[in-house]
Amino acid sequence: MILVTTAGKVGFETVRLLRQKALSVRVLVRNPEKVKSLVEIGAEIVVGDLDSLPSIDKAMKGIQTVVLVSPGIPAQELNVVHSAKRAGVKRVIKITNDASADSPIARRRWQYEIEAELLASGLNYTLLRANAYMQNVLALAPAIKKTGGFGSSAGLGRMGMIDARDVAAVAAEIAASSVTHVGKTYKLTGPALITYSEVAATLSKVLGRPVSYHELSFEEDKNAMIHAGLPKELAEMNAQFFGMVAGGDCDWLSEDVPVLLGRPARSLEEFATDYVSTFS
Ligand SMILES: NC(=O)c1ccc[n+]([C@@H]2O[C@H](COP(=O)([O-])OP(=O)(O)OC[C@H]3O[C@@H](n4cnc5c(N)ncnc54)[C@H](OP(=O)(O)O)[C@@H]3O)[C@@H](O)[C@H]2O)c1
Repeated sequence: MILVTTAGKVGFETVRLLRQKALSVRVLVRNPEKVKSLVEIGAEIVVGDLDSLPSIDKAMKGIQTVVLVSPGIPAQELNVVHSAKRAGVKRVIKITNDASADSPIARRRWQYEIEAELLASGLNYTLLRANAYMQNVLALAPAIKKTGGFGSSAGLGRMGMIDARDVAAVAAEIAASSVTHVGKTYKLTGPALITYSEVAATLSKVLGRPVSYHELSFEEDKNAMIHAGLPKELAEMNAQFFGMVAGGDCDWLSEDVPVLLGRPARSLEEFATDYVSTFS
């Protein structure tokens, strides 16, 4: 039995793909209403919270493999790691970012902290280190609908953006396979390096109307995100991230997705076509 810890962008699709492979899968969620369609395809649901150790222990019963994906808050993910260790789980497949101990971005330091403790736990692990998700572009949809364009402090920085559905596909592929991926770290990216200017061009093509892109300063970007409803700390962390993108931080590609999946990673144009209704 495989446990997937949440059913957000990556978790939901991972569960769906594992059921497509006819594997037994359980998913820990806070709100079962959001995963009715997963129940319909045979997934087992445990209602719980990553802040509640008893609910994690309950979800961990009889589990061999954990796909650890969540917002990446250390106390929560470490609850899962410790529970997995106690339950004698065979391996943990962890979704992570470009983690480092001294990153200026808190969420990368948090992921480093989780990775370090996972490695120290002695559990078998596989790390899936993803570049920026294409789905982040969905947050720009309201601005695009309202103004016909969007802004960012990412400048003309290039990103090896990946469709979160491909992150899920890799997690499901590895969870379904034997133990050959233990101790490995895979770098997950899309097929191309993309600037936000190219995102605008792709959206223009797919939507059949012009979508413009304009560069913002750190302060302008942060304030725009706060105005759009993001908490101040998150807006600041995101603007900090986009500043690093401008400096080349996400300018990396890898062949791990096509090698692992035996097919190309989804392109930005495929992503935009699949999500066209969100921008229309
Ligand atoms: N976004 C990127 O560009 C990017 C790039 C590289 C790596 N990553 C990594 O991707 C991971 C995030 O994956 P994602 O995009 O699939 O996340 P997501 O779509 O934001 O979903 C997060 C899920 O976690 C659930 N959740 C939040 N707090 C919880 C709690 N206390 N207990 C139980 N469930 C809880 C949420 O449930 P509710 O529906 O109940 O709120 C939601 O379903 C992070 O590890 C991040 O570092 C992201």
